[in-house]
Amino acid sequence: MSPKSSPQREVFVSRGAFIFAAIGSAVGLGNIWRFPYVTYDNGGGAFIIPYLIALLTAGIPLLFFYYAMGHRSRGSAPLAHRMVHKGAEPIGWFATGVAIIIGIYYAAIIGWAGSYMFFSLTEAWGDDSEGFFFGEYLKLGDPGISLEFVPGVLIPVILVWVVVLAILLMGVQNGIANFSKVFIPLLIILFLALVIRSLFLPGAAEGLNALFTPDFKALKDPGVWIAAYGQIFFSLSIAFGIMITYASYLKKKTNLTGSGLVVGFSNSAFEILAGIGIFAALGFMAKAQGVEVADVASSGIGLAFVGFPTLISEMPGGGIFGFVFFACLVFAGLTSLISIIQVPIQALRDKFRVGNKASTAWIVGAMAVVSILLMPTITGLYALDTMDAFANNVGIVGSAILSIVVVGWAMRKLPVFSRHLNAVSSFKLGPIWMTLISITGVVLVYMLITQIITYV
Ligand code: PFF
Repeated sequence: MSPKSSPQREVFVSRGAFIFAAIGSAVGLGNIWRFPYVTYDNGGGAFIIPYLIALLTAGIPLLFFYYAMGHRSRGSAPLAHRMVHKGAEPIGWFATGVAIIIGIYYAAIIGWAGSYMFFSLTEAWGDDSEGFFFGEYLKLGDPGISLEFVPGVLIPVILVWVVVLAILLMGVQNGIANFSKVFIPLLIILFLALVIRSLFLPGAAEGLNALFTPDFKALKDPGVWIAAYGQIFFSLSIAFGIMITYASYLKKKTNLTGSGLVVGFSNSAFEILAGIGIFAALGFMAKAQGVEVADVASSGIGLAFVGFPTLISEMPGGGIFGFVFFACLVFAGLTSLISIIQVPIQALRDKFRVGNKASTAWIVGAMAVVSILLMPTITGLYALDTMDAFANNVGIVGSAILSIVVVGWAMRKLPVFSRHLNAVSSFKLGPIWMTLISITGVVLVYMLITQIITYV
């Protein structure tokens, strides 16, 4: 290696390895706890229309866009943008920053899910899952800002970072790809078992009716369309810099568009499955409590750490169900977390020519310190909310807009990317793809303006 060349660049040994890693990144907490409620809340069965339109006209085309950027430049997000134009490098750093923020709090949530695997076995929350989670587990009783540590949270968060460090030190192929190859199939098997169990619960049909009964009037509401695009971007891990980074590890001749189609459709299949499982279970819970599904439907932290524990207590054999449910959250979360942390790791390697292991150790170390010091504190928990809202509402959309406007429009790289993709792929793109990317740019600007108006 000449003194000026960068440290040896890692590669995925096969397209399969890349596909597993990319599905691992895409299938995350968003699929399990976000998609079902977003669908329910935005027109039920009718939501599938904007959802599929967003997938086919924006999600998959943008996946191709980022694959092309990463594969052509063989660089991290900042380097890939820099190779388009020197002045575009900050866009890559912005995406890297969003990835760092998300990684810091996502690790904490995976830690909580790890604790809850074991809480499920004894139903540690008793008959007050809400009081247990916020009061006893997170110790949020005192609303004041405090840096007091909560040991029950600290230990699992440390463990998550240790596991992440171990996987990432093994490298892109032996760590990321091999881990995903084992844990994604395992996740699918476990999750299928949960869905089948849920479908046999009394009340499951009411849950599914609540989820899928279409409300076509909802399609007139622009908010429903924004929700569909938002879900697709988050779910496909677009605009965090992940897809640029992963595509940069692919061999020169790789079927990029074919891989994108596999990743895009697998991810959606998993989330539709999650919708069925979660709402069948919620239907059971509503029936057990003698209320409507609407009264128990929720998403995110409330669904996982308050709703599901109650449900687990009401279900015969709930302990095992709960253990498997939280294990699924941990596996889905970990394969996403490692993908997002690889973004700053590769950025550091490319920018400062830091060695592979050293860059991994530095980034994981620094993020772990912030995450471990911040997340198990009361201040950290308030910060989590802010970080989540910023990353999801402004970070992802903003980063995608900047890439499309600068790389696609100002630098006119779309024809170059299209030729690059066509040269290596089976599924060929044409002017329609370029048009779709441009339309997506317009839709994203509209989304960002609406988000800003709503949140400011
Ligand atoms: N596609 C992921 C999900 O649906 O959860 C998004 C994601 C979140 C990726 C957090 C990576 C990550 F660290």
